[in-house]
Amino acid sequence: MNWKILNVSIPVKDIKKSIEFYEMLLGKSVCTDDVMKNIFENDEDYFFGKNGFGLRLFKPKQDLHMERKLQSRRSYVTILVDSLEKIKERLNSNQIIFLYNESNGFKKIQVQEPSLNLIQFVENNNQFNSDYNGFDFGLNWGIHHMNLESLDVRESVSFFSNIAGFNEGKWVAPKNKGDFSIDPMELSIFPISKDNSGLHIIKPDDGFGYRNNFVHNPSIAGHPAFTVKNLSELIKKLQEKKVLFSDAKVYAMPGFHQIYLYDNNANMLEINQSV
Ligand SMILES: [Fe+2]
Repeated sequence: MNWKILNVSIPVKDIKKSIEFYEMLLGKSVCTDDVMKNIFENDEDYFFGKNGFGLRLFKPKQDLHMERKLQSRRSYVTILVDSLEKIKERLNSNQIIFLYNESNGFKKIQVQEPSLNLIQFVENNNQFNSDYNGFDFGLNWGIHHMNLESLDVRESVSFFSNIAGFNEGKWVAPKNKGDFSIDPMELSIFPISKDNSGLHIIKPDDGFGYRNNFVHNPSIAGHPAFTVKNLSELIKKLQEKKVLFSDAKVYAMPGFHQIYLYDNNANMLEINQSV
């Protein structure tokens, strides 16, 4: 199955305040685009990116207003696939309940993987950029990976392998690897390139932050990771604005300087730069 991360949705309390925060991180947003609007229907949201690719801030509703729709309290990922048909068949034959929606020219599936992370699959059509290796669509930043917290890593892996049809890979660690496990029972990767980008699935590790000397624990609650071109410039801005961050340096992925921080709604974020 050809696939890539199309966009990441992040729940926020006040969209205006969060726009300011994310513009500080990633620069001015490119206008909200129709492709994105058509995928997400009527949510109150705001979009950074183009042609469906990018980052979306959304305001969750009260659950009882959802009328058999799914929403996530956590950041969640939309994955572009070349065909939904097989995924649909496999979900049905495994008796996994999902929502299927075909409107505005888009076909999509919303489903919770075994650790209840909301996953949205969208089928490619000619309104998307079909470059499955591209990760930034010509923006100044890109989505490097989505990290999902899983209480049973192998069960989540089996969902992405056997239902979505993605191929599990092997974690590539740097020489000075930090203090965390790359045992496939505790950490798995579905790579879309050789630089560890793609989907990361991790078992929550309560001592992760403590052992690595971080103020944040990136193994808990999942996080999207954005790649920027000038991380040191961003670090300066965070220091000026007194935003707390953990500078992990190169510790988990060869050639990637990583930092962690919370957004203004305590959503965990990773920002990295290829070095
Ligand atoms: Fe990460």
